[in-house]
Amino acid sequence: MDTSLSFFIFCSLLLFAFSPSTAQTSFRPKALVLPVTKDVSTSLPQYITQLKQRTPLVPIKLTVDLGGGYLWVNCEENYVSSTSKPARCGSAQCSLFGLYGCSGEKICGRGPDNSVTGVGTYGDIHGDVISIQSTDGNNPGRAVSVPNFLFICGSNVVQEGLPNGVTGMAGFGRTKVSLPSQFASAFSLYRKFAICLSSSTGSDGVIFFGNSPYNLNMDVSKSLTYTPLLKNPVSTAVSSFLGEPSVEYFIGVKSIKVSGKTVPLNTTLLSIDSNGIGGTKISTVNPYTVMETTIYKAVTDAFVQSLGVRTIAHVAPFGTCYSVYDISFSRMGPDVPSIDLVLQNKNVVWSIIGANSMVRVNNDVICLGFVDAGSNPSSSLVGFVNGGSKPVTSITIGAHQLENNLLQFDLATSRLGFSSLFLEHTNCANFNFTSSV
Ligand SMILES: *[C@@H]1O[C@H](CO)[C@@H](O)[C@H](O)[C@H]1NC(C)=O
Ligand SMILES: *[C@@H]1O[C@H](CO)[C@@H](O)[C@H](O)[C@H]1NC(C)=O
Repeated sequence: MDTSLSFFIFCSLLLFAFSPSTAQTSFRPKALVLPVTKDVSTSLPQYITQLKQRTPLVPIKLTVDLGGGYLWVNCEENYVSSTSKPARCGSAQCSLFGLYGCSGEKICGRGPDNSVTGVGTYGDIHGDVISIQSTDGNNPGRAVSVPNFLFICGSNVVQEGLPNGVTGMAGFGRTKVSLPSQFASAFSLYRKFAICLSSSTGSDGVIFFGNSPYNLNMDVSKSLTYTPLLKNPVSTAVSSFLGEPSVEYFIGVKSIKVSGKTVPLNTTLLSIDSNGIGGTKISTVNPYTVMETTIYKAVTDAFVQSLGVRTIAHVAPFGTCYSVYDISFSRMGPDVPSIDLVLQNKNVVWSIIGANSMVRVNNDVICLGFVDAGSNPSSSLVGFVNGGSKPVTSITIGAHQLENNLLQFDLATSRLGFSSLFLEHTNCANFNFTSSV
């Protein structure tokens, strides 16, 4: 063979060997998309997503944990893959997890946390192939893969409490290894993601990674209102190392109004102190909004007074319930006073309308869907938050209150965009999941 030709082939091989596998095709996605299903098979609702992992690829189901630091998957059972690789102690992959431990075989590890049950153990860090669908914002497009997506190996014990068939949790929190971070760096996406939870178990909500459009019959990214995302200096997770900050998303609620009237509150509780106590965070694993006792009492008293309808015997975990026959309903849900979270100034307001504030517990009873943190100290509703030495957050906005709201987390500018889709005459189940390829 001609030497220049063989040199050319040699160079081409080199080029091929050293290019990251995401760049093997010229196709680079602008955004990615995942479905989210509301699952009510466990005692409290969970929101489940599905993606593909391993070689050969298999679909895996994961509980969505907005404030979780990383992906964890049960490796103790049915984990078969020719591409799974442990992360070696001291490697760059381990450091992406921040602080970590090292096992006997010199594999690094930490977590994994089940933030639904509050169980956290220790697991090895591995990397494996993850495949996910790209999107143009209108439909799912072709699948793209990340060759060495990092995750923590969970076990049967940690998996307990997740719905049947769900084998791990997908963390979207403020870390370098959360799903949004790993996808953004693998495909050079905008460091943004958006979550839209459906209220219906029959039709899926949607998660977008990367920039809009987010087409739910219309580009709903156009209707967002913005507020800064705040950091809590102290970890609020099940298992963490001393000195680590929280990786959850906090926002600055300054006051609360019911029917336009400010509720008297101890506002000290609304800010995060140097020990990490107080403030307001957003959670997809708490099914309902949890409030510190004095806030809970003040808000429910104001609500009961403003609605002016007789309350009936309450149904746990809720403290304020009504007969459905005493309440009228509209397209926006039960016709009840709006509960407004006032943010950085009086013009930036997250309004919780009837469809999000009220929960239908049976045919006859409807309850205000807020939970008193004080009277539920160890239940799985408030999880580990009040269970031990972790700092207590004053308000956790739970998943029921997020349904049919578009939430966009912009990690580059550290701000949250939010929009109630009821006001836009659409909902989170309106993404067209029919593939365009
Ligand atoms: C307000 O809350 C803070 C933090 O829990 C507490 O130290 C303070 O005593 C409270 N103030 C009043 C007036 O209750
Ligand atoms: C959903 O997308 C598919 C593929 O692009 C298209 O054929 C179909 O008409 C769309 N459905 C609706 C309801 O828009």
